[in-house]
Amino acid sequence: MSFTLAEAKAADAADPLRPLRDRFHLPEDLVYLDGNSLGPLPKTAAARLNAVVTEEWGAELILSWMSRDWIGAPQRVGAKIAPLIGAKPNEVIVADSTSVNLFKLLAAAARLSERKTLLSESGNFHTDLYMAGGVADLMGLTLDIAPRAQVEGRIGDDTNLLLLTHVHYKTAERFDMARVTARARAAGATVIWDLSHSAGAIPLHLNEAGAEFAVGCGYKYLNGGPGAPAFLYIAESLQERLISPLRGWMGHAEPFAFTDDYAPARGIDRFLAGTPPILSLAALECGLDAFEGVTMERLWTKSRAMFDVFHALMEQRCPDLLCISPRGEDQRGSHISFSHPHAFEICQALIAARVIGDFRAPDVIRFGLTPLYLGFEDIWTGVDRLAGIMANESWRDPKFAVRGKVT
Ligand SMILES: Cc1ncc(COP(=O)(O)O)c(C=O)c1O
Repeated sequence: MSFTLAEAKAADAADPLRPLRDRFHLPEDLVYLDGNSLGPLPKTAAARLNAVVTEEWGAELILSWMSRDWIGAPQRVGAKIAPLIGAKPNEVIVADSTSVNLFKLLAAAARLSERKTLLSESGNFHTDLYMAGGVADLMGLTLDIAPRAQVEGRIGDDTNLLLLTHVHYKTAERFDMARVTARARAAGATVIWDLSHSAGAIPLHLNEAGAEFAVGCGYKYLNGGPGAPAFLYIAESLQERLISPLRGWMGHAEPFAFTDDYAPARGIDRFLAGTPPILSLAALECGLDAFEGVTMERLWTKSRAMFDVFHALMEQRCPDLLCISPRGEDQRGSHISFSHPHAFEICQALIAARVIGDFRAPDVIRFGLTPLYLGFEDIWTGVDRLAGIMANESWRDPKFAVRGKVT
């Protein structure tokens, strides 16, 4: 398939989702293919944060907890995530980081069963494995880490929980949520899904799939800003059976009764721990409002078209970079990844050429295809600049081999 710059421009001109790009601040001449790591700044965010700081914190100070409903922000923002993931509004709450939410859910859900094994995938995102290891140590459980192809087969009589990342952070491979959930449940086990690379990226139907527990990131496809709080999902039917291992006052039934005894709040609210980060929640809410008026299905249709163009252009113009993401649309998320022994240097050279993707050790470059604000010309230009770097081998400049604290 050949796809010219003129065709890319024509595809953008004909794209009904194109106006959504105006909801974001995107620097001129920068091709931003890293929205799967950190979403761009929604245009409403600066003014909204300024208003929260000056009109709410500045003018109304502590009264804002009630007058500006700061106290309801975790639930209100969670309810805006719910339609993106196919959940009910009272099944999602925004709190803490993904890592901390993993801990809370792992420990709380593990107590529902006498079984002793936590099962996860080798090569899962490392924080997931670290958190599972920590919970296993604390609770006297065994952590079983199996290669991806063996995970389902390893579900056994002693499997308590499976911790799976729905879309793999590196390869973009996707588990079949409904099938794996059904299989686990039939075997008496429960799945906790990490949706960090799924929420806001692909259509999700947690209720329909029978999903019981999930967590996900606020700063990637949800465009909530650096270090945005994360979310947590618990199926309604299970909420009253769980107690959070982090029994903070904000998860208490009556935080302002100041009693010595702990009584969990009703429903998912009990999974709050400390005081919610109001400024960060305000930014995340702007990111979520940027999805207004568009369905995940429409975004996914465009993402698939962008994937096909990107893949074809890369095969044609950058054949030395090997695609490691599945082609099948039911088998992947909304990023595309390539391996190369010099992926790090190539990624740095590309950033110097004003195309931002990211490197994942040891040898992968990832590109986020985020149809809310990217178009076909971005894709074309990104591959064109990469092809130039591969052709003239400019990535060999030693300055591109210098590794910083964040890669
Ligand atoms: C799959 C996955 N889970 C969890 C995290 C980390 O989330 P947090 O920084 O919110 O703890 C990431 C971050 O990239 C991730 O990719």
